[in-house]
Order: sequence, then C-alpha cells, then structure tokens
Amino acid sequence: MYYNSIIETIGNTPLVKLNEVSKGVPGNLLVKLEYFNPGNSMKDRMAIKIIEDAEREGVLKPGGTIIEGTSGNTGMGLALGAIAKGYKCIFTLADKQSREKIDVLRAMGAEVIVCPTNVPADDPKSYYSVAQKLHKEIPNSFYVNQYDNMSNTMAHYESTGPEIWQDTDGKITHFVAGVGTGGSICGVSKYLKERNTRIKSVGIDSYGSVFKKYKETGEFDEKEIYPYLTEGIGEDILPKNVNFDLIDHFVKVTDKDAAIMTRKLAGKEGLFVGWSSGSAVYGALEYAKKHLKENDTMVILLPDHGTRYLGKVFNDTWMNDHGFTEKTELATAKDIIEWKSNDRLVAINVDMLVGEVIKILNKEGISQIPVMDGQEIVGSITDSKLLRLLIDDRTTSDEKIINVMDKPLQFVGLDNTLDVLSSLIDRENKALLVRDEQKQIHIITQHDILMAMTNH
Ligand SMILES: Cc1ncc(COP(=O)(O)O)c(C=O)c1O
Repeated sequence: MYYNSIIETIGNTPLVKLNEVSKGVPGNLLVKLEYFNPGNSMKDRMAIKIIEDAEREGVLKPGGTIIEGTSGNTGMGLALGAIAKGYKCIFTLADKQSREKIDVLRAMGAEVIVCPTNVPADDPKSYYSVAQKLHKEIPNSFYVNQYDNMSNTMAHYESTGPEIWQDTDGKITHFVAGVGTGGSICGVSKYLKERNTRIKSVGIDSYGSVFKKYKETGEFDEKEIYPYLTEGIGEDILPKNVNFDLIDHFVKVTDKDAAIMTRKLAGKEGLFVGWSSGSAVYGALEYAKKHLKENDTMVILLPDHGTRYLGKVFNDTWMNDHGFTEKTELATAKDIIEWKSNDRLVAINVDMLVGEVIKILNKEGISQIPVMDGQEIVGSITDSKLLRLLIDDRTTSDEKIINVMDKPLQFVGLDNTLDVLSSLIDRENKALLVRDEQKQIHIITQHDILMAMTNH
C-alpha cells in the first residue's frame, strides 16, 4: 500500500489518553495529536481543503501564486499542497513567530515576508495588510485568508470532527481547542453538536485577546488587546470562522502556564507538542476540575509539534529570561516542625556521663542530641561519635559529656526551604535547630528532611 503524494497522508491522527498531568482530575481526558499530519500540524487539513475548494471555484488557476498571512503552520500545509499541485507560495508572518517556523517555510520553497508584531491588524505594515496588498499587485494570485475563508471550518467539519466521533465511539462529552481563526473548534463543534446536542465546546483564549470577553458580554473591547507571546491562539479581530454560538465557554490561559504545561506534556506524557497545546491542556484541566464528572470523556485538540518551539519553550535560557520557571512550593523549616507536631526537643546536660547519654539515645531512638548548660545550647553529640570513643577506650563511659562533645548544632530560620536545609546537612552536621515563634527550640534531623522530600 502506498500514497500517491504526501498530501494523501493528512488526517486520521491518533487519540491518546493523558495519564500524568491529569492525575486527580475527573473524567477520561484524551488528546488528539495533530502533529501526526505530514506538515506536523492540524493546519494541513484546512490548507488542502482551501486549495481544492479554490480550484473548484476557479479562483486558483494552474501556475497561480498562493498568498497568505500565516503563523507558520498554515504556511506549511499550503506549501505541501502547492508542491503536490504545482503552485508558488508567498507568506507574510509576524516577527514574534519562531525562527524555526520561518526557516521551514523557506525550505519548502515558499517566499516568506516577516512583518512587525505589535501593530494593529489594519496598519499597512501588519502581516494581514501586507498579504492583501501583495494579492492586489500579483496577477493570478489567490489570497487564502484563513480567518474568513469558510473552507477552514469545513475542513474540520469533514475530517477532524468525524474522526473524534468515531474514535470515541460517540462517547465524547466535551471538546476543547485553542481559538485562533476559529476553524478547528467551530468545524469540530458543528459536527459533534449535530451528532449530540449535549456535547460542550470549550475554547482556549490567551490574555491579550478579545474572544472571551466578546463571548461573555457581546462587547468588542479594545482594552482587552495587548501583546502576548503564545503563538496561534487569541486574536485582536473577530474572524468569520469563529462562530460564537458553537463555543459554549472560553478559558484564558497565560503564556507562562501554557509554556510550563507544554514542557510537562513532553517530560511526563512523552507528547512533544507546541506551545498552544500547553494552553489547551492547561485550560482543559482547569475546566475539567470544575465541571467534569467521572464518566465524562473530554477530547483536547493539540495543534502542532514541539520542534517549532525548540528555541523558546524548550530552551531553558529563554524560559528563565521570561520568568517562566516553575516555582515548586518547597517545604520550609516551619512546615517540618509542624508535621512533627508534638515532638519535644530531647536534650542533655553538660554534666551527664557518656554512659548515661548512650542510654538516653537508645531509649529515645535518636542518633544525635544537643547538649545544654542551663537554658543555653553549648554542644552536641552523635551516637556514632560515642561508639568510636568507646571502641577506642571502654572507660570513656564514665567521662563527662562536656569533655567529648562537638560544637552545637547549627540554627536555621523558620522560613528556610528544604533545598537550603538539605545543603546544610552533611557528615558533620547531622541535624539542625530552629526556634519557633514562641522561642521553643526544635530539632530537624537528616531523617526529617528525607521524609519531607518524599512524603510532602
Ligand atoms: C499552533 C496553533 N495553535 C492553535 C491555532 C488555532 O487554531 P484555529 O486557527 O483553527 O482556531 C493555530 C492557528 O493558527 C495554531 O497555529
């Protein structure tokens, strides 16, 4: 069995269950991996549909030039179609797009024009305006306009929607997808809602985009528009492909939450997907935690592949520079003494004899102990040190502890975190001391730190 050209391999992408990032979230959460398409994104589907509809309508003729303003993925799909069918391509895109996306398009034989990101859509320098101008100037050219070309929605109505319905045996209850042009969420939702009106559609929007507020209030609020980084979702316009009646609810996701989730999907699920996939899963989990029941089935559309974001989300320096590092909530010394709740500090007096101290260590089941002179901590001793002394000289048993003790254990602050505490514990310092708010002294042992790291 073989295909006549690469474009015949588009579609029939797999559904895969989330296992790790969805722990504790109700329902069966499945992701549809659109990077299995030959151009590594879901945009292959609509690119071919748009080209073939344009050919049928006579607006794209042999030897013609395909022009589009594209964030890269659409360009890739169009380039595949153009190669298979013998057209030229010119793409305009915003300079916030990944360098990799631009290089790939050029490798696929397209001409790429990079335009500024932070200008309004109607500015003559914007990638929308530049694409339209080129279309007017170049004879026998076809302007794709994925935002308003309804073949975009139809591609997903005819392929992505039916695949999801079949692969879930009609059990899908919720569909989640990022919203850019709106073609994917609206095409899929239209098909699914025609099969079962109870299926809910959740659109993922970015901060800096107009969609969520427009859905909720009917107001196109320009104050909602500001620059953001996530590529592919959110808009400062209302594309014709966004049919708000087909989207039940919007969830906004920050660039940072999306970026961190994208890395988790790679590291914990083996899903090497793009940044907007991180947005989709993050938003889907937020929604699912509040609204899903155990026997619900949610399908989340993951639009593209991680390779296009190697210089960004998958680059540690870039993540740090943008403050996108995950701050794990490390336990503090205060947390540890709270977990040990009623443990009182066991200490000994400087006048005690080594033999007596060994009995106390045995009785309490501890291996180190602070030594006190009245209310003051003056030293410490460990069971291993006492053992060594006794092996050398059995008579040490009658020696006063003050003559053999080590320096006092180090005090740490109540708010010192686990990473700091563990760095202070070594061969010589087997435990630490901390004063609580009531000035009571507590001990934190190596064992306590290990327990805190593994159990909490
Ligand atoms: C990476 C990525 N994610 C999500 C989307 C949004 O999909 P749609 O345009 O179908 O709404 C796009 C569209 O450009 C995209 O490129």
